[in-house]
This record gives sequence, C-alpha cells and structure tokens, in this order.
Amino acid sequence: MFVKISRCLMGLFFGFFFIVTAAETNDNNQISVEFPEELLMIEFEKYILPRFKFKTQIKVLVSTDNKYYDAKLGILPSGLEVFSDLNGFVYRLETKTTDPEQLSRLEKFANWLTSDSGIRTIEDFSIQGIQVFKAVEFSEEKEEAEIFDGDMAAGLGLSQKHCKRCHVVDDNAFAGIDSTPSFHAMRSFDDWQERFTAFWTVSPHLNVISISEVYQAGSKTVPTTIAPIELSLNDIDDILAYVAFIEPKDLGKPINSW
Ligand code: HEC
Repeated sequence: MFVKISRCLMGLFFGFFFIVTAAETNDNNQISVEFPEELLMIEFEKYILPRFKFKTQIKVLVSTDNKYYDAKLGILPSGLEVFSDLNGFVYRLETKTTDPEQLSRLEKFANWLTSDSGIRTIEDFSIQGIQVFKAVEFSEEKEEAEIFDGDMAAGLGLSQKHCKRCHVVDDNAFAGIDSTPSFHAMRSFDDWQERFTAFWTVSPHLNVISISEVYQAGSKTVPTTIAPIELSLNDIDDILAYVAFIEPKDLGKPINSW
C-alpha cells in the first residue's frame, strides 16, 4: 500500500515537474505589459496581441497585478507614442524593465504597433462597426519619432558601460556618484532630448568623452585615472533610444533616490 502511494506521489511529482519545465521553456519569448482598464473592457488586447504573436512569435502577457510588468501602455505623460483614440488622446508605451532581452522584445512590439501592419490592425478594430483608434500623426513631432531609431538594448549596454560610473542609469540605484543626477531624474526635464544629444559638449564630459566622428576629448587635462570614453554618433542614438523609454522620476524626490 505504502509503495503504491509513494509511486503515485512520485508520478505526480514528476508530472508536475514536467509541466513546470515545459511551461518555462515555452514562456521564454514573452513580455508582460500593463494595459489600462478602458482597453481591457473593450477587449482590445484580445484583438491585437494574437496578431502580434502571429507575426513575431512573441507572446504579450497582460499584467493586471500592478506589481510586475515590463512595460505599461496607456495615456501616459511619457513613453513612445503608439496610437491614439479618435479624440486625439495619445497612448504611449513606457518601459520599466532594464533587461536587454526584454527591451529588445518590447522594441519589436513598439515597432510593430507603429508599422503598417500594426496600424492596419489598430485601425481595423471596431465596436459595432465603428473605428476606435488611429495611428498617431507624427508630422509635428517627427524629430521625436526619429530619435527612437536607435537600438535601446545597445543603449542600455552603453550606458551601463560608460555612464554608470557617475550616473544612476538603470534600476541599480546604488551605482553612480551621489552628486551626479540620475538618468531617471534627467529624463523628467522637458528638454531631456537636447541634453542627451549634446551632453558630451558640457563639463565634465568634455574631458573624458570623445565622439569619433566629431570630437576628440581634451586628453591632456584628464587625469590618467579616468579612462577615456569613445563613442560614435550611432552610440548616442542608441543611448537616446534607451533614455526615451525609461521612466522619468520626479525631481521633487532626492535626485539619487530615483
Ligand atoms: C566622470 C563622470 C561622468 C560620466 C562618466 C558621465 N557623466 Fe554625465 N554628468 C556628470 C555630471 C557631474 C553631470 C552634472 C553636470 C552639471 O550639473 O553641471 C552630468 C550631466 C549629464 C547630463 C546633463 C547635461 C546637461 O545639459 O545638463 C547628461 C544628459 C549626461 N550627463 C549624460 C551622460 C551620458 C549619456 C554618459 C555616458 C555616455 C555620461 N553622462 C557619463 C558626470 C558624468
């Protein structure tokens, strides 16, 4: 009798183990995105996500517990503009994760939402025959749209490699130097784009950072203890693409508490 029960338990255990591992391997290619209630109510996610998955094999899990998600979709103050409702309220995708693989999947999601096939899907969605959403018009904000041509995951890597010695650049709030503003704090400035495009022209970067096509850092004045940083204009695009996606932090809080 005892033997039988234990066998049975073993079977259960292995069966369970098998299911868990199988689920894990299937789950690798996925991202979790928080959707706002108004989109869930009209089951917009059920319309677009399977189509995205069909194109890219990436599964988007709709996060509802508000605690863990890779990105958030909604009418938000920051993030990448992805589509708008017919009243012109713009929906944006704001990332939270700083994991390079998740970022590159999110980038695919954002690219798809703003691609011809994504836009067609979004505009085809209707309630009782009436269209609900449309593509965002980029005409006025073309510059902003162009910035995201960079590769976010590469931008994160570059920031961690070169900027982290002084700035907090990701969710490791203990990196960086106290007196140096965090990327999240600087992201909340209205003119963050200009600052992140031209940061190498302001002190203290001038002495340490060279831009291969444009500028050679004044190496004579640099103490040899500071390793020089070599970047290209392309690298700056990547950093911009990364910063565009990080969550701005209110400057009301201490600067490094992000
Ligand atoms: C040697 C330390 C150091 C490194 C390395 C460094 N920074 Fe900075 N950075 C600073 C300090 C200090 C300031 C604040 C300057 C000030 O307020 O006058 C700053 C300011 C900035 C600003 C705001 C500029 C402005 O116009 O106010 C940006 C943007 C910036 N850094 C981006 C970067 C990026 C991107 C990297 C990596 C490629 C980087 N920094 C690497 C020390 C550093």
